[in-house]
Amino acid sequence: MTDRSTDRFAQYPLDKAHRLFEPGPVVLVSTADGQRVNLMTNGFNMPVRHSATLALVVGPWDHSFTALRDTGECVIGIPGRELLETVVDIGNVSGADVDKWERYGLTPAPAATVRAPLVAECFANVECTVADDRLVDDYSLWLLRIERAWIDPAAPAGAEVHHRGDGTFSANGELIDLRARMTKWEALTRD
Ligand SMILES: Cc1cc2nc3c(=O)[nH]c(=O)nc-3n(C[C@H](O)[C@H](O)[C@H](O)COP(=O)(O)O)c2cc1C
Repeated sequence: MTDRSTDRFAQYPLDKAHRLFEPGPVVLVSTADGQRVNLMTNGFNMPVRHSATLALVVGPWDHSFTALRDTGECVIGIPGRELLETVVDIGNVSGADVDKWERYGLTPAPAATVRAPLVAECFANVECTVADDRLVDDYSLWLLRIERAWIDPAAPAGAEVHHRGDGTFSANGELIDLRARMTKWEALTRD
């Protein structure tokens, strides 16, 4: 059963927000252009700093591109396995044609720092502003600053799902704990 309440979200520390993206999740990008809210699916994303900076590919082929460019803001929702079919459908239609929130029964919830809404059904959401758009023209690559991060503390470790790049996906199975071997990077392993 998908949880639609955002009451369950707790703030996630920004200096640990990279942990949400290091596993390579397929994500939903939420935007608001002042008139409508939209959602798109994204697989090309990565953390680039421990201090809450993300790289995200959103191209001019996406309707979301204009809202991201004009507002400089978005929310990235991280869905679990139960949303995966919906996530794929969202990446196969344009917000220029349909209200994807309504069509797919997703719930926009107010964010704290940006106008784009959180996706209530995702187990984590991060509120972002554009930090650097110098690579957008050449690579459709946006550098984003995470302003606020939220997580459902009850979500299991490894709740995210991964796109293998060809329409097949993997969900996490075994969690392998090698924290004891992270001798040089011990600080990263602390709660
Ligand atoms: C699994 C999956 C991953 C995708 N990853 C990306 C991506 O990383 N960057 C991108 O620009 N589009 C990506 N797309 C395509 C967009 O989600 C798609 O163009 C979508 O229709 C855009 O919605 P919009 O036009 O309402 O913005 C992906 C689609 C799918 C199904």
